[in-house]
Parts: sequence; structure tokens; C-alpha cells
Amino acid sequence: LPIITPLVAGNWKMHGLLKDLEEARHLQALLTENPAQAEVLLCPPATLIHPMTAILRGGLVSVGAQDCHSLEKGAHTGDISAKMLADLGARYVIVGHSERREDHNETSEQVREKALAAHNATLCAIICVGETLSQRDAGWAEKIVLDQLAHSVPDGATASNTVIAYEPIWAIGTGRIPKPEDVAVMHQTIRDHLADRFALGDQMRILYGGSVKASNAHILMAVPNVNGALVGGSSLKALDFNGILDAY
Ligand code: G3P
Repeated sequence: LPIITPLVAGNWKMHGLLKDLEEARHLQALLTENPAQAEVLLCPPATLIHPMTAILRGGLVSVGAQDCHSLEKGAHTGDISAKMLADLGARYVIVGHSERREDHNETSEQVREKALAAHNATLCAIICVGETLSQRDAGWAEKIVLDQLAHSVPDGATASNTVIAYEPIWAIGTGRIPKPEDVAVMHQTIRDHLADRFALGDQMRILYGGSVKASNAHILMAVPNVNGALVGGSSLKALDFNGILDAY
């Protein structure tokens, strides 16, 4: 089996003011003392990307964004391109988070365009997929996720420019997590898709996201084909996030 360096990414969503950069500083200090056996990433709101990269420069925590436009520049008021994010020092960008698919009606095709824009800007795209509770209850979870993967992941994806994040929508922010055996089935399904489609698909990282916290991280991370986590609420405080990193 290939050795995959796990990625633990914090998605701050629409949380964080300048004062909260203190949490990033604190996390950096904790990791300097006690480094994690994982790559660590924080994705703050766009407003904090630049000051956060300044604080974290040269350290063990990378900075990423939560979305990008699919074009490099143009008449798109309020939007931000992948190239602009890279220009600020971001190294990753999350695309296709379920909150964006829902709030902004993003389709898998648009997500693929965004991932391509990320690749062209030399950013690593974290492409999110996941089913709703009613889809799971109907027995469609794997089918839904495979369809999202087929349309959201560009053909040029590699193990270094793409990370997949499986986030069952019903587990996001709810405190509920799927049974480890259900996570195992889904991650194996995703792995098979990637290995079929891409030369090094067996090395692409597949993160689990949805109510990950220090108390369950050990269980989730022990599941085969779980190569890290995408963390929302528990990434906002350095001590909480560091508790998750202790699972590595
Ligand atoms: O992108 C991470 C996220 O959707 C999970 O959020 O708060 O359940 O960890 P949370």
C-alpha cells in the first residue's frame, strides 16, 4: 500500500475576524512544540487569507481558501479567482462544499471548472462530495457520491493537485457521525473510482468531514482509506483542532 501523508484541514466557514488570527498563532505554537504526523491546513474566510499567511509563514500550517471562481479574471463583481488566492499565499482551495452547492446552487460541472481553475493557478483543490440523509436512507449514498465524483473531479486530477473530501451532509455540524463501517464502504467506493480513473488514484487523499472532533478523530482516522479530515466547528479554536491532530 502507498504511504499517504494525511491532511487535516480546518474550514472556518464564515467565522473569523482579525482578532481570531490569535487562534492560528496559537495553533502554530502548539505544533512547533509537538508536531503532528499530518499536513495541517487552515481555510479561513477570504478576508483573513493574507494576514494569516503572514502569521504562519515558514511554519507547519498552510493556508487555503473556501471557494474560487472558475475564471482567472473578468467582470464578476464580488468573486475571487484561484490565481488571486495563490497570489496571497494560499496553497489549497475547497471547492463544491455542500453549503456552496446548496446556498449558491453550484452544480458538479461548475465545481469541476473551479477545480480546474485551482489546478491552473497551482493550487490543490479539495473537492467535496456527500449525500443527504434522505439519499442515504433510500440506499443511494454511493450512487450519489459516484455521480458527484464523475462530474466534479477533472480528468487532469493528480495525487498532488487534488484531495477528495467525503462529507455526509447530515453529519455536518450535527454532532452525528456515520458508523465507521459505513465510512469504510464509502471511502472504498471513492478509492475504487479514483484508482480506476487516475494513474496514481490509489495515492490521492480522501478526507472525511462532518462533526469530527478530538473525541472521535481516533476512530475515524483508523478507518481504511481515510487519509485525514476536513473539520468545521472544531477547527475554530487552536486547542480543539490540536486535539484532533493528536489522533495522528
Ligand atoms: O467542511 C467541514 C464541515 O462541513 C464539517 O463541519 O462543523 O461538522 O466539523 P463540522
